[in-house]
Amino acid sequence: MKTTIYPGASLHGTLERELPGDKSISHRAALFAALADGQSEISHFQVSGVTRPMLQALTALKVPWTLDGDILSVTGRGLSGLHAPSFPIDCGNSATTLRLLAGVLAAAGLPAVLEGSPGLKRRPMGRIVTPLQQMGVPISASPEGCAPLRLAGRPAGSRLQAQHLILAVASAQVKSCLLLAGLGCEGTTCIDEPGPSRDHTERMLQSMGVTVRSEVREGKNCVSLCPPSPLKLTPLHLNIPGDPSAAAFLIVAALITEGSELHIQNICLNPTRTGLIEVLQEMGGDIQLLNEHLEGGEPCGNVRVRSSRLHGTSVSGERVVRMIDEFPIFAVAAAAAEGESVVSDAAELRLKESDRISVLAKELRTLGVDIVEQADGFSLRGGKVQGGSVDAHGDHRLAMSLLVAGLISAAPISVRGSECSAESFPGFADVLQTLGAKLDVERTL
Ligand code: S3P
Repeated sequence: MKTTIYPGASLHGTLERELPGDKSISHRAALFAALADGQSEISHFQVSGVTRPMLQALTALKVPWTLDGDILSVTGRGLSGLHAPSFPIDCGNSATTLRLLAGVLAAAGLPAVLEGSPGLKRRPMGRIVTPLQQMGVPISASPEGCAPLRLAGRPAGSRLQAQHLILAVASAQVKSCLLLAGLGCEGTTCIDEPGPSRDHTERMLQSMGVTVRSEVREGKNCVSLCPPSPLKLTPLHLNIPGDPSAAAFLIVAALITEGSELHIQNICLNPTRTGLIEVLQEMGGDIQLLNEHLEGGEPCGNVRVRSSRLHGTSVSGERVVRMIDEFPIFAVAAAAAEGESVVSDAAELRLKESDRISVLAKELRTLGVDIVEQADGFSLRGGKVQGGSVDAHGDHRLAMSLLVAGLISAAPISVRGSECSAESFPGFADVLQTLGAKLDVERTL
């Protein structure tokens, strides 16, 4: 599919349910509900390309679920009620599904094979395999340290050894995998990560009756989990807030187009996710957070955005983790801003759905943007975006960012492979159109 977007629109409107439910919370809600004792009901579940493999995995583990629109019901029968899958589980493009599932299977002691798309099979799994092995989990990866992952299973009733694990990178997927494995341990699992990554696992498990503690010690985020005995988790009754990583595309779109004003209701404003909003505000962005409150243990609220003149900025350090998915759209904001922006300490971006530093620099250069790639980030001088034809490289966030760039380019921008935006934001082009953007979608066979 090729989508062409035309510059010159102003964006106006109020969005709530049009924005998908948060992807990270959706993944966790589906999986953790399967571990609960009883029926969970989760509304505003993100039904998308990356959450479908998680639902299919529940089926493979013989956990009953139904989806009615965006309302997911899951009948949990506890960790010990999961069944060993009789075939390899395909995690599609979803690293969150693969890594979190590995933790649950490790805790349950079930034999399984976890597979994925060619893209997922290039992503590093040693970061979960090594600590899981340290806990006594019989698990192996490919010789390159990637999926497929093979778990051999353990004798019924045997427990894992709780460990104090020190992570080299701040990653919520790795931390969550190990915390979930901790549910199958004797004693308290402790995890130190270099900085605070998103903490949805900690908040949700706590709401289900598991003791999880976090504190920052000497700059490190130290998390500990002690499984209740007996392991009985309370079912979830949850309304998932809107995804701030999906809202990010619309927030930047409204900021950089003249005469725009956008209201987005009830999105997740967990501080481990608001790095981009803070950076955009520092760049001069008129973004107001309203009605901030806690819902289901997660900070949420409304966002009002108005067109603004932005200036360049630098992003580095702990803030990188709090906006780890937002760098493609940050680059578009930086391209619209006056002056230079610099991103460093962000080498993790090379290990995402694509090598996000390399493909971002390549495609933005095609659009005449002055961007220079660095090992751990990029520098970019704003002020010029030309039209042209670019490629999404199968990366949903790159596809949506390039479309937003087409709102301020000198001529239209066509994005090849734009269908991948449905991985995390089905209907993205329709939402942009509803707000006032002009797009043409060309379906190719
Ligand atoms: C996620 C964590 C992040 C993020 C991903 C979702 C999660 O990955 O990039 O989109 O739900 O835990 P890492 O843990 O690899 O940084």
